[in-house]
Amino acid sequence: MGLYEIKGENNLHVADVELSYENITKLEANFGSPLYILNVNKLRENYRKMETAFKKQYPKTLIGYSYKTNYLPYLCKELSKLGAYAEVVSRLEYDLAIKIGENPKRIIFNGPLKSKEDVHYALKNKSKINLDSYYELDFVKEYALINPTEKIKIGMRVNFDLSKDEESSLQNGYKVSRFGICVENGNLEKAIRELMEFKNIQIVGFHGHFSTRTRSVDTYRKITLELCKLAKKYIPNNVEYIDVGGGMYGELHESFEIVTPTFDEYAEAIGTVMNDQFADTHHKPLLIIEPGVSMVANVISFVSKVIEIKTIQNQQFVLVDGSVHNIKPTMHTRNLPMKILRHKGSKGHKETFNIVGYTCMEKDYLAHNIHDGLPQRDDYIVFENVGAYTIVFNPPFIKERPCIVAFDSNKIFLTRKSETFKQFFNEELYCFSKGDTDEYLTL
Ligand SMILES: Cc1ncc(COP(=O)(O)O)c(C=O)c1O
Repeated sequence: MGLYEIKGENNLHVADVELSYENITKLEANFGSPLYILNVNKLRENYRKMETAFKKQYPKTLIGYSYKTNYLPYLCKELSKLGAYAEVVSRLEYDLAIKIGENPKRIIFNGPLKSKEDVHYALKNKSKINLDSYYELDFVKEYALINPTEKIKIGMRVNFDLSKDEESSLQNGYKVSRFGICVENGNLEKAIRELMEFKNIQIVGFHGHFSTRTRSVDTYRKITLELCKLAKKYIPNNVEYIDVGGGMYGELHESFEIVTPTFDEYAEAIGTVMNDQFADTHHKPLLIIEPGVSMVANVISFVSKVIEIKTIQNQQFVLVDGSVHNIKPTMHTRNLPMKILRHKGSKGHKETFNIVGYTCMEKDYLAHNIHDGLPQRDDYIVFENVGAYTIVFNPPFIKERPCIVAFDSNKIFLTRKSETFKQFFNEELYCFSKGDTDEYLTL
């Protein structure tokens, strides 16, 4: 791995606040260390940019925010206030959407595992539900029999060969995606035929999320075209929505050093296909997009404090009070964009160092091979771009979870408190001795 030089100035602006070293010490005095910072203004900006780009191309666009990427309740609520629907993939996420006050009709229920109760509940609530597997058909049919006078609307997640004979663009190089109902082997057609036997069931939408390595504009052109063609073939008179899923790039920090498509470019490609394919249709279907990473990755930073600088043999280790689990739960080795806020303001001479965390794991590296002025005790290191798959993914491991502080213009407030011992070892959850349980099971 090559050396990594920190790009840009070492001061940090969050919303309308300049985070000088002194300001961070005030944050620490109030909220403790380490902590996460949520930039609410940036979140709104991301949403508005995406919405504007898509609605310019295709006015009937609907944004369903992918909860699993970051289901911090405050963040979900903020997006809901901006107009986002909730895209959920479990009953837990569904119930959270309800808890933050979401209208169930504005919930899109996806995911490979739904129980009969989940499906019936979502149908009763008139949520948008996309079936992912054949077993879910039985739940829908059963609901249709129990509620013969109810008009039941269903979407289907479809699976088609995205790469044909080309190299697969799926994440991790998988040849075949495991999600949705397969078009090529006839399962989709069979499923549609089975559902259409029920007079009160209507298939109204097709969904096709693919997680690709490239996140290329061309992929979205293909996905949209395929979904439109399937809709026109199987549900020509009923098509209410085409859902192309998420998987797009958001704005990337300059340190990533790659050029990625803009929201306008994605919107232009997808919108053009939608407009062409439904040119002769009076009631245009909705276009649904389900952004996750592109909406929230750059809205959260993680602030950790330097505790010690250790020299071992010829290597320098900067120990901080956070962990790789707080910023990169998948433990990838790419360095995130970062800033060092130094208490004396001046950098020492440049050295190469690693930033390591509080756990007892050898591999707890928050950053590798940084080439910059060696940090000092009590400096702060801020890791940016940690909004996606961190808050939801990090298990509280060895230490309690840090708090999440929101910055909204110049207001600063908590959206998650620091976890305490009592919450970590919740007595409603853990049984500390046999006597704590009321019942014994004997087999
Ligand atoms: C069905 C569905 N929609 C949306 C998303 C969000 O994708 P991303 O975070 O890449 O935008 C995912 C992520 O895996 C997904 O599975």
